[in-house]
Amino acid sequence: MAYENIITDVRGDAPLRTGWITLNRPKALNALSDPLMDELGAALKAFDADASIGCIVVTGSEKAFAAGADISQMVTMDFMHVYKNEHISRNWEHMRSVRKPVIAAVAGFALGGGCEVAMMCDLIVAADNAKFGQPEVKLGILPGAGGTQRLPRAVGKAKAMDMALTARMMDAAEAERAGLVSRVVPLADLHKEVQAIGDQLGRYSLPTLMAIKECVNRAFESPLSDGLWFERRMFHAFFGTADQKEGMGAFLEKRTPAFTHG
Ligand code: CAA
Repeated sequence: MAYENIITDVRGDAPLRTGWITLNRPKALNALSDPLMDELGAALKAFDADASIGCIVVTGSEKAFAAGADISQMVTMDFMHVYKNEHISRNWEHMRSVRKPVIAAVAGFALGGGCEVAMMCDLIVAADNAKFGQPEVKLGILPGAGGTQRLPRAVGKAKAMDMALTARMMDAAEAERAGLVSRVVPLADLHKEVQAIGDQLGRYSLPTLMAIKECVNRAFESPLSDGLWFERRMFHAFFGTADQKEGMGAFLEKRTPAFTHG
């Protein structure tokens, strides 16, 4: 598929490589239009299905990861349009079905839908110039792609309310303190540091990564007892894998494991 709003490429030198998706509407600060979200979904699906890929990175430019849903596209939309066309639900939810780890590499603005897309990813690495916010209140709307749900789970009610009600932006340092981002790195090193994570994941067993992701996500969907039960059963299941024998055997033999992803 030829993309017009994103760029895809494959990087890294680990056995499983990293699929990079760069949001590319620089003149609109990567505003998340319908065509862009269709392409993002297609690219995520393609990398998820590609057996040579171990993890996926979503990134933007140095100035903007994404400045939100495309306001010029939404300004004329009415209720029947968004309702009938499943606005947001139709093409923003692809990330939820991706089974490989997805890393958001965020520089500059991650606002509104941009912050929400970053939060849909499994971990966020922020450049030191990153700014996160849910400024929809200024437009007379509310966050509509998970901001009111994922933000409090990430940073707690106090900061989520502050950000969504006042539109205050959080810089990278505060976002790391609050638990929204996993790591903060200098802007100039963002791609290098994220690719280092990609290479690290690319040396592990892919089904193991997928199971860890499923288990951690379960923590947000179920009571503790159900989550623990799910984790334990998954843990047991992995004793039926070749990669468990290989990983433990390699440790005891003091060598690098050669995972077969089975
Ligand atoms: N939609 C459409 N176009 C956007 C945009 C958006 N979300 N954000 C920026 N742009 C466009 C601007 O209109 C401008 O276009 P022109 O050059 O044609 O005028 C261009 O990108 C550059 O933007 P600015 O001139 O505003 O750049 P700045 O550096 O002065 O300000 C900014 C940067 C603070 C991010 C500012 O652009 C801004 O506030 N953007 C809107 C942020 C926002 O409200 N996001 C939420 C959108 S709603 C949403 O996301 C709903 C949801 O939950 C799904």
